[in-house]
Amino acid sequence: MLDDLAPKPTSASRVTLSHIMSAQHSNLLGTVHGGVIMKLVDDAAGAVAGRHSGGPAVTGAMDEMAFLEPVKIGDLVHVKAQVNWTGRSSMEIGVRVMAERWNESTPAQQVASAYLVFVAVDADGKPRPVPQVVPETDRDRRRWQEAQIRRTHRLARRRAIMELRDQRAAEGLDD
Ligand SMILES: CC(C)(COP(=O)(O)OP(=O)(O)OC[C@H]1O[C@@H](n2cnc3c(N)ncnc32)[C@H](O)[C@@H]1OP(=O)(O)O)[C@@H](O)C(=O)NCCC(=O)NCCS
Repeated sequence: MLDDLAPKPTSASRVTLSHIMSAQHSNLLGTVHGGVIMKLVDDAAGAVAGRHSGGPAVTGAMDEMAFLEPVKIGDLVHVKAQVNWTGRSSMEIGVRVMAERWNESTPAQQVASAYLVFVAVDADGKPRPVPQVVPETDRDRRRWQEAQIRRTHRLARRRAIMELRDQRAAEGLDD
């Protein structure tokens, strides 16, 4: 399975995980702890990355985690994840978190979103190639383009910070 690098459509690895939030997920305010939602986001993204890449993949980065509305105890939370973009060994996974309020008959409401970079790894934990993702809809294509912009910014930011550190080290600053 690890050697199968045939391109794969977005829908082949899309995942929705659903959970009922209970008292053990509560923060001091009585709503759901943000870290619980982050764990669910990482789990769903990891399942997508594993499916798409056909083997193990690790979280390389998590960014733009946005909490839009509080999640309440009793809510039924749906964590929807898909591959937005693929590089050589990395994949951007987009995640949307929806909540069905336990005490309201309103449609599920978006409560959070996040973008994660997963890197497919071999048995030695080294990056391995992933199949290219093939966007299927206009929305998938928009997500691919936006992911490409985020990738460019991530790499540029990392490079700029490394250059600054090297420069300060060369000047004997920051011990
Ligand atoms: C993620 C990891 C495998 C990358 O290894 P590495 O030797 O730095 O790999 P490379 O520099 O060759 O990068 C591999 C790919 O990951 C991408 N990448 C690595 N770090 C990244 C970061 N912080 N943000 C975005 N992309 C990143 C690279 O751009 C590259 O993408 P591409 O192959 O699609 O072009 C390694 O850093 C690692 O094992 N980290 C720990 C992961 C982990 O344990 N996560 C769980 C947290 S407990």
